[in-house]
Amino acid sequence: MSESKKSAKFQPLSAPKGLPDYVPPQSATFLRVRDEFARQAHLAGYQHIELPVFEDTTLFARGVGESTDVVSKEMYTFTDRGDRSVTLRPEGTAGVMRAVIQHNLDRGYLPVKLNYYGPFFRYERPQAGRYRQLQQVGVEAIGVDDPLLDAEVIALADRCFRAIGLRGYRLELNSLGDAQCRLDYREKLQDFLFALPLDEETRARAEINPLRVLDDKRAEVREMTADAPLMVDHLCEDCRAHFETVRTTLDAMGVEYVLNPRMVRGLDYYTKTCFEFVHDGLGAQSGIGGGGRYDGLMAQIGGQDLSGIGFGLGVDRALLALEAEGVTLEGVERRVDVFGVAIGEAAQARMALLIDELRAAGLSADMAYGGRGLKGAMKGADRAGAKYALVLGDRELESGEVAVKDLAAHTQETVELSSAAVLEQLR
Ligand code: HAM
Repeated sequence: MSESKKSAKFQPLSAPKGLPDYVPPQSATFLRVRDEFARQAHLAGYQHIELPVFEDTTLFARGVGESTDVVSKEMYTFTDRGDRSVTLRPEGTAGVMRAVIQHNLDRGYLPVKLNYYGPFFRYERPQAGRYRQLQQVGVEAIGVDDPLLDAEVIALADRCFRAIGLRGYRLELNSLGDAQCRLDYREKLQDFLFALPLDEETRARAEINPLRVLDDKRAEVREMTADAPLMVDHLCEDCRAHFETVRTTLDAMGVEYVLNPRMVRGLDYYTKTCFEFVHDGLGAQSGIGGGGRYDGLMAQIGGQDLSGIGFGLGVDRALLALEAEGVTLEGVERRVDVFGVAIGEAAQARMALLIDELRAAGLSADMAYGGRGLKGAMKGADRAGAKYALVLGDRELESGEVAVKDLAAHTQETVELSSAAVLEQLR
């Protein structure tokens, strides 16, 4: 029995439901987007932080909030072999806070500005743009409660999306007030909501988190709550002034936004400024990024009482948004710049050395393997999206030369068979 027949006894496996793979060629775009977001963060002075993908469950229960869907319904929680309850991180902010406290970063110069990226895990119902393993690039600026910093973070998120060529999104902005004025407002809102003929579930929500009722997408609830009091109209003087400065700074920076006084974020730690980037080309999962300020979070998980602000940008949804807008990032289809096409055993052996030297000099280069003929090897150059093919046959080998083919211009130059001469020709 042949090898392939033997292995057919086994069923092929798929990744668990809702977990995306990033395979070539699309994986090139994934990397470019993630790296561009991180690059923009570094340009603004955020330093990389690499954190564990799972943490003690308590961190998220305390940090993100037990009443949120993320904590109550969506966490991947399990007991490890040492009988500890651990959870795959559903988001990044709580872990960053934990690390900042643990490593005393909050005792140095403030704000601490950190950037992270990687996978996060939420047991949501999978659909287009909603995965159980999702990729985010995030920043957190911790320790200073300055509205100019809010504007920086929001403008940075906007710049990230613009840098990859997205245009068809809008930035929604709101203020959730601070612990005091939100509490006062919450009571007013509850008085309003409890006077309405709400169904049982919505009523229960009004008890636990009345602000979330305002975010209800059902038309009948929208109608009933059309005249509900709004947080923005009940901000205390400090919060009002803070929000005003955020807005005038964004205006001055030319960052466009719309106010959405009904916006409620899915995590409990937000206070004052919060924001979301919404893309209309994505259907139901339209949030491509979001964030906001969090006053009480650090104290909540056992640190100093310092404020912070940050965002998480959804890399998966940014990729879908690029597709929806028909944007292709320049050069992503190019696997290597230079591709070696050598005919005959001796030429192939020589080409392997030449390609190795070109890589050592910093060029991206590959060659045809497996003793292919000219046609098959040229196909390899084409598939690799190469700009140049280096063609070496017996005749060239004998005369110590190699042909450098410009594949776009359809021109060809013959140069000495050395990496120095090839590099000179490609310069
Ligand atoms: P978030 O709004 O929960 O915020 O998530 C940020 C972004 O991650 C969303 O806007 C969305 O693009 C993406 N995302 C979330 N869930 C999924 C999913 N199931 N599938 C695909 N993409 C998803 C946070 O996580 C906060 N930690 C952001 C933050 C940082 N706030 C302050 N600092």
